[in-house]
Amino acid sequence: MLADEAAKVVRHSAAGPGYRFLVLCAPRIAAALVPGQFVHVKVPGLEASALRRPFSVFDADAESGEVTVMYKIVGRGTEALARVAEGDEVRVMGALGRGFPLTCKGAPLLVGGGYGVAPLHFLAKRMVRDAREGCGRPVLFVGGRTKDDLLAVDRFEALGVEVRTATNDGSAGVKGFVTAPLDETLAELRQSGERFELFTCGPDGLLKAVADRALAAGMPGWISMDRHMVCGVGACFACIQKIRMPNGDVSNARCCVNGPVFAAADIVWDG
Ligand SMILES: Cc1cc2nc3c(=O)[nH]c(=O)nc-3n(C[C@H](O)[C@H](O)[C@H](O)COP(=O)(O)OP(=O)(O)OC[C@H]3O[C@@H](n4cnc5c(N)ncnc54)[C@H](O)[C@@H]3O)c2cc1C
Ligand code: FES
Repeated sequence: MLADEAAKVVRHSAAGPGYRFLVLCAPRIAAALVPGQFVHVKVPGLEASALRRPFSVFDADAESGEVTVMYKIVGRGTEALARVAEGDEVRVMGALGRGFPLTCKGAPLLVGGGYGVAPLHFLAKRMVRDAREGCGRPVLFVGGRTKDDLLAVDRFEALGVEVRTATNDGSAGVKGFVTAPLDETLAELRQSGERFELFTCGPDGLLKAVADRALAAGMPGWISMDRHMVCGVGACFACIQKIRMPNGDVSNARCCVNGPVFAAADIVWDG
């Protein structure tokens, strides 16, 4: 279901240095969203012809009709977005793209960097809510340069999710990359013979590191790609990602409609 709603701002608050939570009342979109999908936001205060900005969904609640995004202020659009106030109206389009599968193929390991934790929060919430027998609780692995880059950790912990952190400067968790605590857990799972499933969103280097580990272990891996988008609905081909087709051919997929979530095995990495 695709809707374009005039959504009231319910809350707008800090989510960490340079990051904000924006909660919108968009009942039709909230009811349709699945984890990993995104919304396309028309930022008030920009000229009418300005492009919309895509954001992953941090949370969506069909009962309250609320859709939450967590965004980083990086440029003109997000600077203008940071100025919207409670009660303002923001046009938002969704539910867009293909999200994460929720089929439970093994212990769910979620790996995030920066605002990449946003779709993983919605995913973790659904996994906890819909927990089936044999599907373990998700574990979140999150990394950043310093402790200030570790976002929304309290929100994951409030869901009962175990959070394992790493920072480059050692100010929180393990000193180094998030792949260090991840590799420890993967080694333990290899020893016990337990199956696992990887879900990731963040910078490309992290996505590839996670995809490589899923492929090496022969386990499913789901990668949420962050590509510049223009139309958000498949019309402009601005958001191309090379993928491998079942017959081995390489083809151009559009992240906004064929993704943003792809199977690790399907992605053809540049370089
Ligand atoms: C599917 C998807 C989900 C996203 N989810 C989130 C989210 O949950 N939270 C969040 O903060 N951001 C998210 N983004 C990125 C967000 O859309 C951009 O940061 C935003 O559009 C920048 O707008 P701006 O006008 O402020 O910046 P601009 O002035 O357009 O650009 C400022 C800087 O940010 C870079 N930039 C712009 N867009 C992107 C992008 N897509 N990826 C990487 N760098 C970019 C530009 O190259 C430039 O260096 C997502 C992007 C996609 C495609
Ligand atoms: S953003 Fe236009 S095709 Fe994907």
